[in-house]
Amino acid sequence: MAVLPIRITGDPVLHRPAAPVTVFDETLRALVADMFETMDAAPGVGLAAPQVGVDARLFVYGWTDEEGTAWRGVAINPELWLSPTELGELDPETESEGCLSIPGERFPLRRARRAILRGVDLDERPFEIVAEGWLARIFQHEYDHLDGVLYADRLEEPHAKAVARIIRKNGWGSPGRSWTPGVDDIDA
Ligand code: NI
Repeated sequence: MAVLPIRITGDPVLHRPAAPVTVFDETLRALVADMFETMDAAPGVGLAAPQVGVDARLFVYGWTDEEGTAWRGVAINPELWLSPTELGELDPETESEGCLSIPGERFPLRRARRAILRGVDLDERPFEIVAEGWLARIFQHEYDHLDGVLYADRLEEPHAKAVARIIRKNGWGSPGRSWTPGVDDIDA
């Protein structure tokens, strides 16, 4: 297993839809193992294949909820259903999220409170998870990655301008930038 470099916003693989997974073999198994290791090393609660430069519709997640239940798994070729998004003021305390491809930053973003994730695992066994709250947010964030959408693309003002400024200031936003957890000194 290995910790993989994580692509930073601006790399084309992050900004285009990923291709469905068609081959379920040892290579896929090794990729998923490396993605779990990379996510844990970052540390993060989710990681999508395009973030490690792989054009494939899959993500891993790992998060423990308020009741102590550990949610951890891989979603391959997932589909996602969402509850309607609620209106109202954003709460920066409870609605801010970050992304390992925009390391060190967090901004508030409204997400659907409930989501149903369907996909298959490494053995092509179908599964369904009904998620609420933060888990639903993780699924929405990671699913977006598979469509080439970063959370920065969804931010409203003034946050959209703020993240654009940070990307410029860090010299991100161009192809080929990455960081490796445990190697590069980035506070994700
Ligand atoms: Ni992300």
